[in-house]
Amino acid sequence: MTFIEKIKETAAFLKSQGIGHVDFGLILGSGLGELADEIQDAIRIDYSDIPNWGQSTVVGHAGKLVYGTLSGKKVLALQGRFHFYEGNSLDVVTFPVRVLAELKATGIIVTNAAGGVTHGPGTLMLISDHINFTGQNPLIGENLDAYGPRFPDMTHAYDEAYQAKAHEVAEKSGIALAEGVYMGYSGPTYETPAEIRFAETVGADAVGMSTVPEVIVAVHSGLRVLGISAITNHAAGKQAELNHAEVVEVTTRIKETFKTLVKSILIEL
Ligand code: HPA
Repeated sequence: MTFIEKIKETAAFLKSQGIGHVDFGLILGSGLGELADEIQDAIRIDYSDIPNWGQSTVVGHAGKLVYGTLSGKKVLALQGRFHFYEGNSLDVVTFPVRVLAELKATGIIVTNAAGGVTHGPGTLMLISDHINFTGQNPLIGENLDAYGPRFPDMTHAYDEAYQAKAHEVAEKSGIALAEGVYMGYSGPTYETPAEIRFAETVGADAVGMSTVPEVIVAVHSGLRVLGISAITNHAAGKQAELNHAEVVEVTTRIKETFKTLVKSILIEL
């Protein structure tokens, strides 16, 4: 089966399970998957039941696709994403975005936990741009002309109208929303202090191990993108040490605000 046939097979399977029109895909990062529990009239499908779909291995990722209504919009939420550092190919990491394009979604909302370079723990950061520092690109290989061009323009990767809406909504709701550039590393190690000094020098505000591949494929297929990082720690060298427990703990602390913000933004998109 070709890659395009797989995308079409999976989209057809999801339609057979009752997944109809999709306005937005929601890619929910570590500890942020709870938002999918608020989807009304939900259809839930285990990743293991979906053809051509990857499997979640990270603690804090449920591994379920949830479809239904949130803030009056039809959403398809990924409770758990696939990471390159888990050993997945970037085709696997970005496959859900291809399927969202096949389902004719308007856009995606991508979320993640990230280390803060210029922002501190507990900050919600609207992603204004990214730096792909993974050394990889999911579009390497034969171009899928049916989805998008060989050389996609990344000038407006993060939709400017969506960013303006997000700031407006945050202000109205009294939620502090910072803004910045997300720099994607492959992981799974956290960065070294020297790598963080480098990140800061080249203009990064946050660093993480996800999001960049999905956004590249979204842009390629013409999906509009809104990205939000939950800053869970000071990046390496800016605090004594880093650990996953702290990432989980801080995510837990800010997830209610995060959920309120995303739901409020969705109403306005
Ligand atoms: N670096 C990379 N990824 C992360 C971090 C970090 O400091 N915190 C949460 N995810």
